[in-house]
Amino acid sequence: MCLRSVPEHARFQPTAGNPDQSGIRVLDHSEPVVLADESVIAGLDYWRKLPIKQQPSWPDADAVRAASDELASLPPLVFAGEVDQLRSRLAEAAQGEAFLLQGGDCAETFAGATAEQIRNRVKTVLQMAVVLTYGASVPVIKMGRMAGQFAKPRSSDTETRGGVTLPAYRGDIVNGFDFTPESRAADPGRLVKGYHTAVSTLNLIRAFTQGGFADLRQVHSWNRGFAQNPANQRYEGLAAEIDRAIKFMIACGADFDELKRVEFYSSHEGLLMDYERPMTRIDSRTGTPYDTSAHFIWIGERTRQLDGAHVDFFSRLRNPLGVKLGPTTSVDDMLRLIDKLDPDREPGRLTFITRMGAGKIRDALPPLLEAIKDADATPLWVTDPMHGNGLTTPTGYKTRRFDDVVDEVKGFFEAHRAVGTHPGGIHVELTGDDVTECLGGSEQIDESTLASRYESLCDPRLNHMQSLELAFLVAEELGGHRG
Ligand code: PEP
Ligand code: CO
Repeated sequence: MCLRSVPEHARFQPTAGNPDQSGIRVLDHSEPVVLADESVIAGLDYWRKLPIKQQPSWPDADAVRAASDELASLPPLVFAGEVDQLRSRLAEAAQGEAFLLQGGDCAETFAGATAEQIRNRVKTVLQMAVVLTYGASVPVIKMGRMAGQFAKPRSSDTETRGGVTLPAYRGDIVNGFDFTPESRAADPGRLVKGYHTAVSTLNLIRAFTQGGFADLRQVHSWNRGFAQNPANQRYEGLAAEIDRAIKFMIACGADFDELKRVEFYSSHEGLLMDYERPMTRIDSRTGTPYDTSAHFIWIGERTRQLDGAHVDFFSRLRNPLGVKLGPTTSVDDMLRLIDKLDPDREPGRLTFITRMGAGKIRDALPPLLEAIKDADATPLWVTDPMHGNGLTTPTGYKTRRFDDVVDEVKGFFEAHRAVGTHPGGIHVELTGDDVTECLGGSEQIDESTLASRYESLCDPRLNHMQSLELAFLVAEELGGHRG
């Protein structure tokens, strides 16, 4: 992997004529406005001096500058108050008083931002959340890998097919998936299209989750439209119990206004600096910077170097942060990440998302948890049972075995049980559609079935039924852990 600095042309330039200090637009203009210190503003560009990985080579410097200017002038996607609220929810999860459910595509695509696909993903997350809440009697924080999960790290900068080598696909916000020189060229216009696609996705999510669709009294309707399968039949049974409980409480005179709306947070990997930097604004209440492209940002396994650009940039923001931890993570690395990203040991600030692999988690996770017990930090621990379990079939499909996913989840709970720490959440790649991308599950998807509906441009996702099955399993583990 090569380390290189961001070239001059890719640097964010403040919009000319911007009334706010140093070209950073304030997040909102309610009075009184607290301005940021000059050192805070300058610090937001310190990452440019540091080694950086996984950025595209943009062919046109002026076009990148123009796209950055435009992004910097557009409204934020999220507000600082919502971000603060999420931080306090995550603090509860870190204490074992809530559980994080984070799910969505590996790579969202512009073409996939349709009402139907967004609705199916939201429904799937809501169904999983109900299974977890009811099964384990715990509040569930709902978060989508949605409305901005457009940029992908790649293991190689290029891809070769039939003797032709082109730039690797880095996600729709950078280039196209089609294997032609035109499509694979990094196109700065996609930065702005990414923003607008995120806006329309988040708008629909907000409408669904605030406008009555997510009302717990709709618990049955979220199950409609999916092909009949054992997991959603099991869900029907649970939904009937919830229905009965709600009717009983209504008959007792309980006020269920609280059930009408759910909090649903957005998240994505903080990877593409030409997007994240111009989306960063100063909160007028506090004079501190927030990345307004999402509520929650995580730093990936490939870009979490302690002296690298990503860790430096995100360390300066107020958003709650995640960091992926693979099986080779040392205790020392973990402790230094805590010092860098959460120096004040702020509740809810830092989430470790472990992605060890089913065969490794039982050895790799306990030493990290033991070390945390002796440290003065309380990060939230979340399992990503997807990214350590990839395999490629002889026919060339990237896939994962559902059994490995389940086994990693079990290993995660076992490790926390043994050490006495809190298993605080799950992070999964899923879709609400009936795709055939991961092997197994009770539909018994096998290698010959993979081809029938494989749609992911990146990693394989759990389909609707596999997602529900996993939720039932996690609910049992979590219920057992808490009970
Ligand atoms: C991802 O979450 O899509 C991803 C690339 O994960 P990781 O950084 O853990 O490999
Ligand atoms: Co992925």
